[in-house]
Amino acid sequence: MGNFLELAMRRYSVRNYSDVRVEEEKLNYILECGRVAPSAANNQPWHIIVIRDVEMRRKLAMTYNRDWFIQAPVILVICGDHQSGWKRADGKDHTDIDVSIIIDHITLAAAEQGLGTCWICNFDAILCSQVLALPQHIEPIAYLPVGYPADSTDNNSRHLKRKSLNEIIHYETF
Ligand SMILES: Cc1cc2nc3c(=O)[nH]c(=O)nc-3n(C[C@H](O)[C@H](O)[C@H](O)COP(=O)(O)O)c2cc1C
Repeated sequence: MGNFLELAMRRYSVRNYSDVRVEEEKLNYILECGRVAPSAANNQPWHIIVIRDVEMRRKLAMTYNRDWFIQAPVILVICGDHQSGWKRADGKDHTDIDVSIIIDHITLAAAEQGLGTCWICNFDAILCSQVLALPQHIEPIAYLPVGYPADSTDNNSRHLKRKSLNEIIHYETF
């Protein structure tokens, strides 16, 4: 097991899944890694819907129509609870930030376990809320397919194409 940087670099957006079952204990492990994530004021404004059922995955595919999406044996729908998200004095709602952290924990824990994931936000959120009968204050923020990668090749040219530290780090002033 390498260091954190190696794990962070190993994670990539998997868009090609095998249908091998994701073991319950591995799924529970990555969810547990998410559960311990920090959140503003420790409000934990998140809910996760675990979808294994083929029919439900097909229904969800109506909101994000990609073949590889329903190949994954598990889809997590990660939701934000805007009623319980912390609001700063100027009104800024921190729910999205908190939800991003739990998702990041899960994607990295999955990579550690040899599982692939892919952040998906480009879905029809209104239709998703209908399909899953979400209450008004619960927003589906991201989908995370979870499964074993069908091959070990990363065919996503964007992976690890990152700005250099020079471009993003500023010392003392912008
Ligand atoms: C907030 C967010 C939303 C994303 N939405 C999608 C998406 O809807 N569909 C998709 O295929 N990838 C999506 N991605 C994956 C990014 O394209 C990917 O993380 C980026 O290109 C870097 O590649 P890598 O994850 O392989 O390192 C999303 C990533 C993030 C962080």
